[in-house]
Amino acid sequence: MRIDKYLTQLKYTTRSQVKSFLKMHLVRDENAKITDPKSKINPYHIYIDDQKVFYKDEINLMIYKPKGYVCATIDNVYPSILTLLKQPYHRFDFKIAGRLDVDTTGLLILSTNGQFIHELTHPNKHVHKTYVATLDQVTKDIEKLLDGVMIKDDKQNIYKAKALYLNVEKQDVTITIDQGKYHQVKRMFKAVGCNVLQLKRIKIGNLTLNTLQKGEYKEIRREEIYD
Ligand code: URA
Repeated sequence: MRIDKYLTQLKYTTRSQVKSFLKMHLVRDENAKITDPKSKINPYHIYIDDQKVFYKDEINLMIYKPKGYVCATIDNVYPSILTLLKQPYHRFDFKIAGRLDVDTTGLLILSTNGQFIHELTHPNKHVHKTYVATLDQVTKDIEKLLDGVMIKDDKQNIYKAKALYLNVEKQDVTITIDQGKYHQVKRMFKAVGCNVLQLKRIKIGNLTLNTLQKGEYKEIRREEIYD
């Protein structure tokens, strides 16, 4: 990789400012100072003003989404979930795997690798996602979710949404699905006469929130998600 691409990719400077950045800061590898913007570098061995630069080709994070954040990079009303990322992760461009509604809490996966996000969210992958929904009431029809209910997606197309697992503990219902359509869980419960008061995602594939607190995040390996 070239040093100019590296410095701009990690948001240290802009393309047009690379030259002056290299003049104003001591940018070096293990051996020598780097002054030419076109210099080829090893991204894992760069120091800026004697601080080692944190770099990884791919970073995957799990984050505990609190209420009030959106799963988009920009929004007019609410802050993006990405604003919770502090250094050194704030220098990387993360993509968000799937969407949780602004009032939904729980487990989300972020990755710098768009291809990985694509795979993870692809319907053919059938990645299991488990939610705990607090309902206003539990109707006897709730068991119908295991057979599947016909609901609408974001384009008003009707599809069959099915629970793979359902456990009712008074008004707290744990549900596992392997689809991931717009407002799917809320719409599934609505279809059997229940309103969701609170929704929290607790598991994606094999990955659980574990000891993570709201707003916290940590690095994960891809293998921690898949069976
Ligand atoms: N289903 C929903 O209805 N909302 C979410 O945030 C996630 C799944």
